[in-house]
Amino acid sequence: MKAFVCSIIILSLRKREILLRTHSSSDLTIESIGQTVTLAGWVHRRRDHGGLIFIDLRDRDGLIQVVFDPRVSAGGHGIADTLRNEYVVQVSGEIGRRPSGTENPKLATGQIELAGKSCRVLNTSKTPPFYINEDVEVDESLRLEYRYLDLRRQRMKENIILRHQVMKCLRDYLNARGFLEIETPILIKSTPEGARDFLVPSRLQSGKFYALPQSPQQLKQLLMVAGFEKYYQLARCFRDEDLRADRQPEFTQLDLEMSFVEQEDILILMEDMFTCLVETVKPSMRLLKPFPRLSYDEVMARYGTDKPDVRFGLELRDLTDIAAGSQFGVFRSAVQGDGRVKGICAPGCGSYTRSQLDELIGLAKTYGAKGLVALALISDAEGLAVDKASSAAAKFISPEELRGMANRFGARAGDLLLIVADQALTVDKVLDQLRREMGRRLGLIDPTLLAMVFVVDFPLFDWSEDEKRWNPMHHPFTAPKEGDIPLLDTAPGAVKSWAYDVVCNGYEISSGSIRIHSRDLQEKIFRLLGYSQERIELLFGQLLRALEYGAPPHGGIAPGIDRIVMILAGEETIREVIPFPKNQSGCDLLFDAPSDVSEEQLRELHIIVKKER
Ligand code: AMO
Repeated sequence: MKAFVCSIIILSLRKREILLRTHSSSDLTIESIGQTVTLAGWVHRRRDHGGLIFIDLRDRDGLIQVVFDPRVSAGGHGIADTLRNEYVVQVSGEIGRRPSGTENPKLATGQIELAGKSCRVLNTSKTPPFYINEDVEVDESLRLEYRYLDLRRQRMKENIILRHQVMKCLRDYLNARGFLEIETPILIKSTPEGARDFLVPSRLQSGKFYALPQSPQQLKQLLMVAGFEKYYQLARCFRDEDLRADRQPEFTQLDLEMSFVEQEDILILMEDMFTCLVETVKPSMRLLKPFPRLSYDEVMARYGTDKPDVRFGLELRDLTDIAAGSQFGVFRSAVQGDGRVKGICAPGCGSYTRSQLDELIGLAKTYGAKGLVALALISDAEGLAVDKASSAAAKFISPEELRGMANRFGARAGDLLLIVADQALTVDKVLDQLRREMGRRLGLIDPTLLAMVFVVDFPLFDWSEDEKRWNPMHHPFTAPKEGDIPLLDTAPGAVKSWAYDVVCNGYEISSGSIRIHSRDLQEKIFRLLGYSQERIELLFGQLLRALEYGAPPHGGIAPGIDRIVMILAGEETIREVIPFPKNQSGCDLLFDAPSDVSEEQLRELHIIVKKER
């Protein structure tokens, strides 16, 4: 035994002697002056200053300047002369103080430099297809194709490190509170969450398919039935849906579930967890505390969306009652067609030019509006009037109507009313976008504020006009509020649920609910959603059976890691915070996936591909 321990010590001592480096750049400070060190990293930049060669040596932790002076080491200088950007090098020498006047306060190592004595090229590099040492705009396809080089860039490196810190902080937080990290399968059966499934053909069971989980929803509920009480997992989720800036086909959730809890327990936990997260990884950002709680009905009325950005005002006002008696056909016909007339007031924008207004009208149309009524308010003898030059609608709007609308906003001369008349869904969608745009244009958004809000009291169901049936607003496992259960038979649309979202700066960053834990109620909900008894058994039999074996009351939530990191990093798409994301068409440009597979593979999987012409 003794001999074994000895040989381990000798081995590790030998290993130390052959280390490629003694320090990383972040180990070196003013205290290191006089030390002989060996560093390894990439040539970030190389400058030749009349005999002296300067290298900015980059490793994961930062940069340090290396100076090669031919009088100190002709050999080292000779090799330094051959270096190019992104070569991988090992440099040894002594840490010294930079000459006075040449310090770089922007760099952690800006007071010191390494006087290079020896230099070894560990690997060469072709000239990269874009600059790694400058934060310049690069075509995203090129960045994704050479992602390993893109990730070397400072901004991306910081994003990935932030992602790690976020995941570590959340893990630490939950581990300290008695949660168990439990993995669940990736090859599983369809768990309907509102998107299409990614399917995996089975080789052993001809013609059968696994589905990749859209989330571990049913599995985490089963873990509650199994008695684990507090579960979490950094879970990969897969959804075959149209991509957007904040949506990827493969993303990560902090999936969590708890037994013996009510909505309040989860909201308190989330407020504390997010506060701890921000204080740990982004202390420079402010949170609104306590997190405001807004009902679904309230956010829809005030912001036109269930993901409101509450960092600024510009709230929507309903003008339908005033518009009902209007001479203006656009207003009247919307009201008669069971639609709504709503608007926002942009303060001080009454002097917008024709082309600025046209831009807003264009934006409204992109989001489905037939038009946008822009009323620039001016003062006249009667008080307020519409600037006729700015609006063709001006002549149809009576002074009383205008006063009524202006009062509803508390608007004044010089302000601009932006009004949409259409079906409620369209009105809200368009005004939500216009509000976001005007908030940006008017500089109303404080970039240091994280306005996290809880949206609660969601309806249980959402009516789909196209499919002529109810869909779950959240997912089918969400519990209705107990008092509303009788309404399931009479007015399903009026049933409110124990579902809740966390919204931050206009993004839905988490969603969850208290779950149904009785088989009867769960089956009833499936039937209301239009599932046949056969489909219920096929898709949900395992869960229904489990609910019959002492399922505890339980609930949970799933914060979306990618969106949280995106917001904390100040990025506009989640692609910037995912190491290897798919592009807008769902392709991985680095691996060129999805791709063709061999005939042999298809045969094994019992698949015949019908090529589309
Ligand atoms: P939901 O489907 O609302 O709920 O997802 C929870 C959170 O995951 C994030 N998210 C996404 N992020 C990136 N790309 C996507 N395509 C994507 N889809 C969702 C969002 C969202 O708030 N099982 C339930 C949770 C539960 O009830 O506990 C679920 O998955 O931030």
